This record gives sequence, structure tokens and C-alpha cells, in this order.
Amino acid sequence: MNKIIVNGGKKLNGEITVQGAKNSVLPILVATLLVNGISVIHNCPYISDVNATIKILRYLGCKVTREGHTVIVDSSTMCRNDVPDSLMREMRSSIVFLGGIIGRTGKAVLSTPGGCEIGLRPIDLHLSAMEQFGASVTTENGFIICSAEKNGLCGTRIVLSFPSVGATENIILASTLAKGTTVISNAAREPEIIDLADFLNSCGAKIHGAGESTIVIEGIASLHSTEHTIIPDRIVASTYMIGVAMTGGKVTFKDVIPSHLGPIIQPLRESGCSIFVKGKNVTVSSQKQLKRIKMIRTMPHPGFPTDAQAQMMALTSIADGTSVFIENIFESRYKHIGELLRFGAKIHAEGRMAVVEGVKALNGANVKATDLRGGSAMFLAGLCAEGTTEITEIHHIDRGYEEPEKVLEILGADIKRVKEYEKTTE
Ligand code: EPZ
Repeated sequence: MNKIIVNGGKKLNGEITVQGAKNSVLPILVATLLVNGISVIHNCPYISDVNATIKILRYLGCKVTREGHTVIVDSSTMCRNDVPDSLMREMRSSIVFLGGIIGRTGKAVLSTPGGCEIGLRPIDLHLSAMEQFGASVTTENGFIICSAEKNGLCGTRIVLSFPSVGATENIILASTLAKGTTVISNAAREPEIIDLADFLNSCGAKIHGAGESTIVIEGIASLHSTEHTIIPDRIVASTYMIGVAMTGGKVTFKDVIPSHLGPIIQPLRESGCSIFVKGKNVTVSSQKQLKRIKMIRTMPHPGFPTDAQAQMMALTSIADGTSVFIENIFESRYKHIGELLRFGAKIHAEGRMAVVEGVKALNGANVKATDLRGGSAMFLAGLCAEGTTEITEIHHIDRGYEEPEKVLEILGADIKRVKEYEKTTE
């Protein structure tokens, strides 16, 4: 079983660029289905969620090639509209194929995506949106069948009861080639929504207001080929920024989009870090004991991102004072707490609240990655713990971080990935 081993105590110094955003590349790769031709997507990270998405595109009949961080999709050969259970289960966010497939073919058959480590992940908002477009939605033997083959998808006004990122993406994907205009109220405002709209508009789509709560999509007949570069991953950048804060030192993050990092910069400054923004570069440094962060409430963008909650909890574990977390987005996104306690952290969680009493130092421990972002909190804790930390179940981390051990080693960390081959039974 592979694992990551960290010897703590090294400061992070230097400069890095940040990988392309996982939560942008996934919906944009799905959106290439709507092009019915060739799309060239640059800055695609080497992460397993991208591999899983490419597998589904190939299953659907698309020709997909990869040249370094560029993925080229020819969706003109698409010949299926179903995603089997095995592929759906490989990646929880495969539900975003719903909008891409039905938007292209008028029908989509997907196995019901399971829940995952951080929650039940319901899809009621996605399915109700499809019905509002005039599609019929039925379930049969664990499959969801969405069909608008009779009259096609008709643009409409959709009010989201929650600004769901995935539901917003599915509505944009389904409405781009629909008849008429769609208006989304209470849309998600995450930067990845803007990137998706930018990609589709560069293919000739007519999407206005992405990044705001109201998005208007004028359906058009067809899209043309384009090239697109994925935005930098704000959560990966936030993860490493938190790592600099926890270990001290000074790192410049180059070619990021500082406005995407606002929700992280504010609490990091509260903890005593100095953060300097110049153009597309952000420099983080911290030389002294970190201070507690009074309250971290996860909220839809531009609030504090739930995807950085576990990492920020690792930071507050060694801050001076008590910090309070409220996880408002997912109902069970505290699985990493059990593992942080093994480092000697003092954390008490009840329901959506967690109270962190900072300790002077963490001690290296044998821990596991409980989920993608919980796993990143493990290597952050290991970076500043006294002694050695071994992290297993690192396939969770590989879903969203491209070679984190290499990035951190370049910055001065003593960290490596160990491939432990299964012992063959004699
Ligand atoms: C996206 O998930 C991201 N994933 C998540 O990142 C991120 O945490 C989340 O948005 C919130 O920002 C991708 O983009 C691939 P939601 P998504 O729909 O779309 C409820 C990571 O670590 N909800 O905004 O699934 C839901 O239960 C991952 O990179 C419904 O009730 O998130 C949750 O409580 C984890 N009904 C809340 O909305 C629905 O139909 C937020 O979900 C849909 C969602």
C-alpha cells in the first residue's frame, strides 16, 4: 500500500506555480461533449479524478489524448449516453455528466452516484432542474434515466434552494444547446463556474452573469472548437499557503488569481501571517507563533471554502488559543479530526461545530487520509509535527493533488512517497 512519510520541522521556502483546478477541469471536460468536435484543454492536472473523467469520456465514444498537461477531446465520435455503475462510483462528481450527456443527446442514463466520505451528496436539485427543462426523470434498478427525446430541452427559469455548485454546472450544461433562454437564480458563484462559462462562451455559447447569483443562458444550435486553459486551483494554493503558515518560512505562489484566495487570506492574516499580493503573485510568510482564528464558518463562495476547512483546522491545532469551526456545507466533513487527535491535537466536535484548543506542538503519528482534503490536512500536520508521520490511504489525496510530496520537497520539506508492494502470500 503506498504511503507518504514526513519528517517534520522544516520551514517551507521558495516559489511555486499551482496546478490547474480540479473542480474546473472536471466540468469543462464534460462540457466538451457539447462541442461535437475537438476541444483542447490546457493546464489539466495529473490527478485521478481527471483520469476517471477521461475514462468516462472514452466509454461514451470520445477520442481523448493527453500531451503533458494538455487534454484533447474529440467528442464527434460520441456514441453512447449512459455511464455504468463501475465508472460512476470511481468519482462521486460524475453526476456532472448528466447535463453534458442530456445536453448533447437528449437522454442520459447514469447509475445513482453514491454518497462519499463527507456526506450523502443528494442530487435532488440536479434532477428537479432536468424536470423543469421538460425532461422525464425516472429511476430503474439503481439507474437514473433522464429523457427529453420527445420535445428536447426547453429553457426555463430555475430557482435553486441552495447555491449548489454541481447543480449550477449541470443546468449550464443542459441549457447551452436547449431551445430558448434559461435563467438560474441563487446560482453558485464559485470561480470554477466562471471558468466553465468562459470555456463554453469561447465555443460560441451565450452565457451571462457567471460568478453572480443570477446566470442567463441563451440556448444556441451548436458550438465550435476552441482551446482553453484551466484556472489555477485555489484550494491547492490555499493548502500550501496554510502549510507555509504552519511551518514558517516564505513562499511566493506565482500566476495565481489573488481574488480567488480572498476567503483564505483574511483568516491567515488573522493568525499572524503576512501576505503580500503583487499582480498574479501572492507571497506568504510567518515567522512567529500563530494566533488562534476566532471563527471559521464554511459558506458558499465568496465565503470560506469548505474544501479548506480540514487544512485550516490543522493550522489552528498549533495556534495559540481556541478556534471555533462551523461546517455549514457538508454534514460529515469532520472525519479528519480523529486523525488529528493522533498527532496530539485537542479538538472537540459536536454536530456541525468543532472547537480547537491550540497546543504547543504536534507529535508525528501513523495516520490515514480519511478523504481528499482531510488527507491534505495530514501532510500539513506532519510538516510541523515533531518526529515522523506516516500517512496511508493516500489514494484520496491523489484524487485532487498532483504529486504533493514533490511540490513540498521543492519547498524544503522532508517528505517522500513510499510504494509498498503487496506482500505476495507464500
Ligand atoms: C462541489 O461539490 C465540489 N466538487 C466540492 O469539492 C465542494 O466542496 C462543493 O462543490 C462545495 O463548494 C466539485 O466541484 C467536483 P454542492 P458539489 O452541490 O457540487 C447540498 C473537493 O474537495 N446539495 O455545492 O457536490 C449538498 O448535500 C470537493 O474538491 C443538495 O442538498 O457541492 C451539500 O450539502 C468536495 N442537493 C451542499 O448542497 C443537491 O442536489 C453543497 O453541495 C446538490 C447539493
